[in-house]
Amino acid sequence: MTATYKVINATDYSDSFGERDAFALDVLVGLSETRKSIPSKYLYDARGSELFREITKLTEYYPTNCELEILENRSTALAEYVSGRPFNLVELGAGFGRKTRILLGRFAELDLDFRYVPIDISESAMDGLVAELTDKLPNVEAGGLVSDYFNGLKWLNNRDDRLNFVLFLGSSIGNFSHNESRVFLRNLWNCLNHGDIVLIGFDLKKDIELLLHAYNDSRGVTQEFNLNLLRRINRELGGHFDIDKFRHFGTYDVFSGGMESYLVSLERQTVYIDMIGRSFTFAPWEPIHTEYSYKYLIPEIEHLALETGFSVATHYFDSRRFFTDSVWRVEKPRPST
Ligand code: AVI
Repeated sequence: MTATYKVINATDYSDSFGERDAFALDVLVGLSETRKSIPSKYLYDARGSELFREITKLTEYYPTNCELEILENRSTALAEYVSGRPFNLVELGAGFGRKTRILLGRFAELDLDFRYVPIDISESAMDGLVAELTDKLPNVEAGGLVSDYFNGLKWLNNRDDRLNFVLFLGSSIGNFSHNESRVFLRNLWNCLNHGDIVLIGFDLKKDIELLLHAYNDSRGVTQEFNLNLLRRINRELGGHFDIDKFRHFGTYDVFSGGMESYLVSLERQTVYIDMIGRSFTFAPWEPIHTEYSYKYLIPEIEHLALETGFSVATHYFDSRRFFTDSVWRVEKPRPST
């Protein structure tokens, strides 16, 4: 049976007026800074998510294919981490389920005793995902949680004592700063039990040319994805951005190991945003920072695991070693008797 559960008290963010207010506030704060920026989470409205889906199909954007290859080859090995116990296969973010479907299919074939629990703040994304699942994998028990990740995990943990196997795929962790990653992982640790398993996708440091092509693709899809942020401000906040007066710029910082995306103003211009009730001035070639996408080395991943309370079980790689899905175990001190 397939059901969508709703977490009471965790849904306040989902009414659209509140979301728009938060967006307006973040744009006001970000565009008022000396170094202008807008948080990358706003890249993902319906159009942005569609464009991101297009990006994942580009050959230049290698991470998706790398992770698909890893999951195709390693899903049977991954089943061993649950060693015959009933478990919740928890996915942070509803995504589009392409990678998860590989895992779900294999786990179902192996007749494992599990329930699939995607957690996402977007009710519509969750409804869509659960409907698709019911259609494609009717034998998999699934219950989507409409919640932020940590409230959803706590809710789940308070209701059953199954082992949790948490998926955080697609190198989404790379979109956090190193400090945000530490906070995120420690929060995750907090919501889980000793012995729970986490599978995290990390994009690895590699030839800079490959990185630059992946984030400046020849068809201009990444450019559209980035510029959509200004279109979104126009649509939702009554912005008056002339999109042709900005360009996408994707660059790599060799010190931080981060791909960085910017929208660069092509001339001096002043843009009014109705809902904010003020205008913002851009100097010629002035950037707005829109996204970080950090790349890792294996020792950096291991350090991150250790300092946030996990042990590393293994790293699975694709054949080119561009990407890793890293398997971590939650380590908690046992209560003394
Ligand atoms: C969602 N995230 C992991 C993507 C990345 O590679 O950082 C977003 C993206 N931005 C530009 N291309 C893809």
